[in-house]
Amino acid sequence: MREPDAAFADPRLAALYDVLDNDRSDLDAYLAIVDEVGARRIVDIGCGTGSLAVRLAATGCSVLGVDPAEASLDVARAKPNAELVTWLRGDATRLLDLHISADLAVMTGNVAQVFVSDNDWSDTLAAVHASLRPDGWFVFETRRPEARDWEHWDIAPTAVTLPNGDVATVARCVTEVAVPLVRFETSTTIGEEVLDSTSTLRFRGREEVERDLRDHGFRVVDVRDAPDRPGKELVFLASAQQ
Ligand SMILES: C[S@@+](CC[C@H](N)C(=O)[O-])C[C@H]1O[C@@H](n2cnc3c(N)ncnc32)[C@H](O)[C@@H]1O
Repeated sequence: MREPDAAFADPRLAALYDVLDNDRSDLDAYLAIVDEVGARRIVDIGCGTGSLAVRLAATGCSVLGVDPAEASLDVARAKPNAELVTWLRGDATRLLDLHISADLAVMTGNVAQVFVSDNDWSDTLAAVHASLRPDGWFVFETRRPEARDWEHWDIAPTAVTLPNGDVATVARCVTEVAVPLVRFETSTTIGEEVLDSTSTLRFRGREEVERDLRDHGFRVVDVRDAPDRPGKELVFLASAQQ
């Protein structure tokens, strides 16, 4: 699989993720879904800095957080309740050796869009399916291509104060739109240091995602609007068929 972007894998940038994206009200919908389906054993794929994993573990769920970016996992491990979570470096295919049987697998923060190639996406869906109990749930979001959200992603250089008092200047520029792929560059300046991260995301439409889920042994039970980003994202709830 593709290496994670510097934004997640460089310790200096991973440390900024929660500072720059500090409104995590998007996670409330996922906590509600976990309650709704009664899941207790959960795997958080692409858990990043662990914001959801630690919240779930605090409710008494057994949580495995998986991410290929060690620097993001290090941020996660320093959070309150991190000791309640099992952290694993890797992508979903790492789960295959573990032979787990989870009630629910989740991917928040549009992790589904990092799988640019058909092979990586297919390998991920197959590994998730193999890691769920029969009728276990796979819940994730992806941005709707028709909303063309990338048209609002450019950010002029903006100063952000970090928890330690340093000031970072962050700028973002979409450099290529070749739907379904969108590429953007983020530049973060801290003192004399300029840290760049290049990202490519894939936008899959609803029909494509539903077809891919069915092809990998899932039944699509519901497709919802993300309550915090109405019209922009879809949240898929699928169950693993035997
Ligand atoms: C936008 S972040 C979302 C993190 C977290 N889920 C959240 O809601 O804050 C995307 C995450 O996907 C991870 N990632 C990149 N490639 C991946 C892969 N092949 N498998 C799983 N996760 C991956 C990155 O390391 C990063 O932590």
